[in-house]
Amino acid sequence: MKALEGVKILDFTHVQSGPTCTQLLAWFGADVIKVERPGVGDATRKQLVDIEGADSLYFTMLNHNKRSITLNTKNETGKEVLERLVKTCDVMVENFAPGALDRMGFSWERVQELNPKMIMASVKGFGPGPYEDCKVYENVAQCAGGAASTTGFLDGPPLVTGAQIGDSGTGLHLALGIVTALFQREQTGRGQKVLAPMQDGVLNLCRVKLRDQQRLKSGPLKEYSQYGEGIEFGDAAPRAGNDSGGGQPGRILKCKGWETDPNAYTYFITQAAVWKNVCDVIGKPEWKDDSEYATPAARLPRLNEIFGAIETWTMTKTKYEVMDICNPLDIPVGPILSMKEISEEPSLRETGTIVEVDHPERGTYLSVGCPVKLSDSDVEVTRSPLLGEHTEEILKSVLGYSEEDVTSIKESGAI
Ligand code: COA
Repeated sequence: MKALEGVKILDFTHVQSGPTCTQLLAWFGADVIKVERPGVGDATRKQLVDIEGADSLYFTMLNHNKRSITLNTKNETGKEVLERLVKTCDVMVENFAPGALDRMGFSWERVQELNPKMIMASVKGFGPGPYEDCKVYENVAQCAGGAASTTGFLDGPPLVTGAQIGDSGTGLHLALGIVTALFQREQTGRGQKVLAPMQDGVLNLCRVKLRDQQRLKSGPLKEYSQYGEGIEFGDAAPRAGNDSGGGQPGRILKCKGWETDPNAYTYFITQAAVWKNVCDVIGKPEWKDDSEYATPAARLPRLNEIFGAIETWTMTKTKYEVMDICNPLDIPVGPILSMKEISEEPSLRETGTIVEVDHPERGTYLSVGCPVKLSDSDVEVTRSPLLGEHTEEILKSVLGYSEEDVTSIKESGAI
């Protein structure tokens, strides 16, 4: 048995944020029914196409373990089918532009009328307020949620990150909201509306930066490199390069081969508890008891010198050798792994975090499996559905339509 077995999801999501949410729910055992426009489907099916005629990796990697039904929800018969889906499902997940669902005739009020137990979960770019009507994509959310202003180097422009914190991050937030609402429904018998705005999700992930914003009132942020460099702080939390976010200073340092390999780097943290080990490893035993270096406070203005010395050592080792030497000494380090290295890492395959999936149009491709492991609810990743692959099956077995009904639905142009 799977954790969410028996839960039916009406998946009205597209692009990335919503689909990541419903994919997680599918991996936990929910029956996810993806509703797509006939002949078109989720726009990502045909975006960034690498194999002509096949669903793109963008689509396949975000829509595993789902079933696809095509339905024109602006057609009268299509609306009737959608009504039946609303009455049958436990959760409706959508990430249309603000107002699209109302225009379609499926406002929250209408959905409640049709099914008072329905949990209606939405991703929007912004919550209620001046920007609530805006369409939003990943990078807009990263910028409006505070991430971009605090990412990058002090002397450069704001930067967005490769981690899709706006889309996939908000999908995760929404998934948590949905299972929480399902849990509450056990007690109340009622559905509810769940909203995860992308700006809020990004800000939640930037919590420590709002912490630093407030700490500025009490003086400079001493763990930031700019403090040791004598650069004054402004009135907003600055970009901190690769400085460690916490009170344990860290940097990205070059390793052997950095001249030709763009990923020959390691992250290195000078955790206070293991400072003496750091001194021994880098050949600076004299720093152990020198009052200029021995305490975290004494080290803060000297971080450039200290990380310079550590880097002189790391440049003599590969990033893996740094890991092998430092780990037994409890010095926290991490190699900068490329996507190529990650895709070839056997341990990630063993845990199911990287999976090989077979697809009738594409052949075999790699995907990221379920990143959350439940000991009592196994995940088996199955390929994404072709457009409308399960239309008839869903109409008959989930919604109870007869063969004749299906024929007349077809004739109406709804599917
Ligand atoms: N049958 C008929 N019509 C359908 C349909 C179906 N099965 N599925 C969708 N549509 C219609 C919608 O009703 C809408 O029509 P309308 O504008 O005439 O009312 C239309 O398709 C397009 O929807 P929309 O959401 O506006 O798509 P878009 O491509 O213009 O915008 C986003 C894409 C992502 C910018 C927008 O959906 C959005 O801001 N979503 C919320 C935030 C979000 O999730 N962003 C991240 C995406 S990764």
